Amino acid sequence: MQKDIETVLFSHEQIKVRVDELGDSISRDYRGKDLLVVGILKGAFIFMGDLVRAIKIPIETDFMAVSSYGASSESSGVVRILMDLEKSIEGRHVLIVEDIVDTGLTLKYLIEALNSRKPASVKVCTFLDKPERRRVDVKAEYNGYEVPDEFLVGYGLDYNEKYRNLPYIGILKREVYS
Ligand code: IMP
Ligand code: MG
Repeated sequence: MQKDIETVLFSHEQIKVRVDELGDSISRDYRGKDLLVVGILKGAFIFMGDLVRAIKIPIETDFMAVSSYGASSESSGVVRILMDLEKSIEGRHVLIVEDIVDTGLTLKYLIEALNSRKPASVKVCTFLDKPERRRVDVKAEYNGYEVPDEFLVGYGLDYNEKYRNLPYIGILKREVYS
C-alpha cells in the first residue's frame, strides 16, 4: 500500500492531536444536551471511532450508509440511503460525522433529509474539507483539516474500497487511478 502513496499529508500522531481537539470542542458545545452522533458509512468509520472516544460527555451513536449514484470518483448529487438511523431524531441534537466534504452534494442531501425529521439541531463534523471543489453551499461546524484538491486515501478514505486501513492520510499516486 505504501508504494502507492505520493505524500503523507497527516501522520497518525498528528491526526490524534487534531481529533482530540475536535472532541474537546464538541464536549464543550454540547454539555448538558441530548446528542446523537451519526457516522456516515463507510468512510467515516475510523474517524468516528476515534472522535467518540475523544468526546467526554454522554452521547448516543448511530450510523447511516449512503451512496451516490453514478461514477465512482465523482459525486452525482443523487444520494441513496442504504441504511437509515434506528430511531427517531425528533427533538434531539444531531451531529453528522463525515470523512471528507468534497462537492458538498452528499452532505447537503443528508442535512436536508435529517432536518425534515424535526431534530433540535443538525450540525456537521468532518475530518477533511476540500473547499476548492465545493459545488453547493454547505459548511461543517467542526472541521479537522482543509486539504488541497488531490485524491486522498487512508484513515477510512478509500479508492475502490482499498487503503481505508492506512493509519495516516496520504495522497494517492495518479498512476494508480488514471
Ligand atoms: P461529495 O458529495 O462530493 O462532497 O462527496 C463526499 C464523498 O466523496 C466522501 O464521503 C468520500 O466518500 C468521497 N471522496 C471525496 N473526495 C475523496 C478523496 O479525496 N478520497 C476518497 N474519497 C473521497
Ligand atoms: Mg465515501
